[in-house]
Amino acid sequence: MSGVVVWFTGLSGAGKTTLAKALEVHLYEAGQKVEHLDGDVVREHLSKGLGFSREDRDTNIRRIGFVANLLAKHGVIVLVSAISPYRATREEVLSQAPRKLEVFVDAPLEVLVQRDVKGLYARALRGEIANFTGVSDPYEPPLNPDLHLRTDQLSLQESLDRLLGALERLGVEV
Ligand code: PPS
Ligand code: MG
Repeated sequence: MSGVVVWFTGLSGAGKTTLAKALEVHLYEAGQKVEHLDGDVVREHLSKGLGFSREDRDTNIRRIGFVANLLAKHGVIVLVSAISPYRATREEVLSQAPRKLEVFVDAPLEVLVQRDVKGLYARALRGEIANFTGVSDPYEPPLNPDLHLRTDQLSLQESLDRLLGALERLGVEV
């Protein structure tokens, strides 16, 4: 049985990494082969040196997608958490996945600015970070995601339950 690419897309601080980590723990405990590719982590290794221009972001997403699809071909459930702001690039990499779930991790910008876990929004709003997604750089939301999770309205457990439900409908034992 082929694996699945679960692709979390959304603005910084929306909850992509948190959701992927929670799902990773659950799937691991259910006995699944699971791997997590996080944008912040990949940028320290596979994508080291890339910045946040459109070209660099697309290169980053194509690299992540390439690895994710290779692993999924061998039965791994691959969780990707990366802003992946460009619709066409997401669609390009996900079209190569044996099975996929595109998950839009969403909360209003004002909520993200209030959360500001990393302090990046404050800096971006002061003009200290160029090309910051949602502030001074585009984000193209999915038009037809497999799941749309409003993290300002759902608890972590509720979001996790929806993810598990979607995987179950794909035939994954969760
Ligand atoms: S992308 O667009 O998919 O290539 O981005 P990604 O690899 O997910 O990296 C996003 C993380 O980088 C930090 N960061 C920025 N994000 C957006 N815009 C700018 N200019 C920027 N500079 C640094 C930030 O910590 C992002 O992590 P998350 O987890 O999304 O908050
Ligand atoms: Mg993150």
